[in-house]
Amino acid sequence: MLHADAPPALPPSITLRRSTAADLPAIAEADGRAFGLDYTDEHLEEIRALFDPGRHLVAEDGGEIVGVTGSFSFDVTLPGGALLPAEGVSWVSVAVTHRRLGILRALLTEQHRGFVADGLPVSLLTASEGAIYGRFGYGIATEHREGEISRRRAAFRPDVPDPGGVRQAGADEMRRTAPEIHRRWAAQTPGALSRSDTWWDLHLADRRWHRDGASALFHLVHADGYVSYRIDHATQTCRISDMATASDEAYIALWRTVLALDLVETVFARSLTAFEPLQYLLADPRQLRTPKQYDGMWARVLDVPAALSARRYSTEVDVVLDVRDPFLDRGGRFRLRGGPDGAECAAAEAGAPVVGIEMAALGSLLFGGAHAGSLARAGLIHADDPAVLRRVSTAFQGERTPRHGTDF
Ligand SMILES: CC(C)(COP(=O)(O)OP(=O)(O)OC[C@H]1O[C@@H](n2cnc3c(N)ncnc32)[C@H](O)[C@@H]1OP(=O)(O)O)[C@@H](O)C(=O)NCCC(=O)NCCS
Repeated sequence: MLHADAPPALPPSITLRRSTAADLPAIAEADGRAFGLDYTDEHLEEIRALFDPGRHLVAEDGGEIVGVTGSFSFDVTLPGGALLPAEGVSWVSVAVTHRRLGILRALLTEQHRGFVADGLPVSLLTASEGAIYGRFGYGIATEHREGEISRRRAAFRPDVPDPGGVRQAGADEMRRTAPEIHRRWAAQTPGALSRSDTWWDLHLADRRWHRDGASALFHLVHADGYVSYRIDHATQTCRISDMATASDEAYIALWRTVLALDLVETVFARSLTAFEPLQYLLADPRQLRTPKQYDGMWARVLDVPAALSARRYSTEVDVVLDVRDPFLDRGGRFRLRGGPDGAECAAAEAGAPVVGIEMAALGSLLFGGAHAGSLARAGLIHADDPAVLRRVSTAFQGERTPRHGTDF
């Protein structure tokens, strides 16, 4: 059933409805056309394992699917370790014949009204283009920093220990041990997404179409970490496809092992963080190059008090946030009193200095990766008193750079 209020006006031939299991091939075809992908029956079988029709909406014109949005359920870690339930928006596309008619806006309005009705505090997505989602209240929450290391030139600082404890593992052992390690890593990492059993099964099945011309997955495990990688023989590159470490020993031990791979010239990791410890472990930090850095996961707050009271803050903060949300009208004034040991947040007109903030900027601040001062300089946060802005900036920043770890 769709939600009570009518979505924004669309041409009369276009209708929205919730999808059914039978829609999957047509949804995949729509997605394939939008992104230039060719889904085979094998792909569809894999997708079906994760596809929840109740979480997808379609727009139809004359019985043909012309727009799609869907979502996957996660828990996402906040600074301080609390987990928030979140929907990760995905499978978004509109047919090229029907663009700029308002179909995306209508689909997202309906979908997000559903999230609010379900009491969700936050929604997430990764964006094909950066200009689309700010208007819907999404801000950049994590970044992808691509890292490239010339293996033969990268040496560790002489005082860095060599903790050892790394073993080679097959997919079966990974399936038994990696989910628990990943949970421990996620508990320490703001922005980290939980993974379902199905996700692990599919990832470790390592189907050929995920290999992009490189080898099958190899795995290395440590009591507190693991790394999965492929070898691209054409470029003599080790491509790290997944890594999680729940202790510094595991982090050092696994990086040491990967950087000791004979016959590999370059180690490539798609998703390092801005302040990646590896660069400080190397004798020459410049050996960790950054070919690209771009937005990773975007976050949108749906319930300001629930999201802000669940996280911890680096320093004490007492402020009234005046949140502007033209898309869903989930803004208003909320007093946030928080610190390292806990926080409370509730609707309140006054009682503390007022800071104006766009909903998208709040999504950027939620996981501690953004700098409130920079957002203020960009006009997305307003505070009359610079000292208040400094306090907000310090309080919201986390000890660790957020990383979501799982694409969706
Ligand atoms: C992106 C896409 C879904 C937009 O669908 P659409 O139905 O044309 O979008 P709408 O007409 O509802 O536009 C909604 C708003 O977003 C804006 N917008 C839409 N696509 C945009 C784009 N690519 N870049 C910047 N703004 C965009 C519109 O101008 C409109 O703004 P407004 O409502 O504030 O005036 C569609 O172009 C598409 O399928 N692209 C290819 C696949 C893709 O990139 N999907 C997104 C995956 S994350």
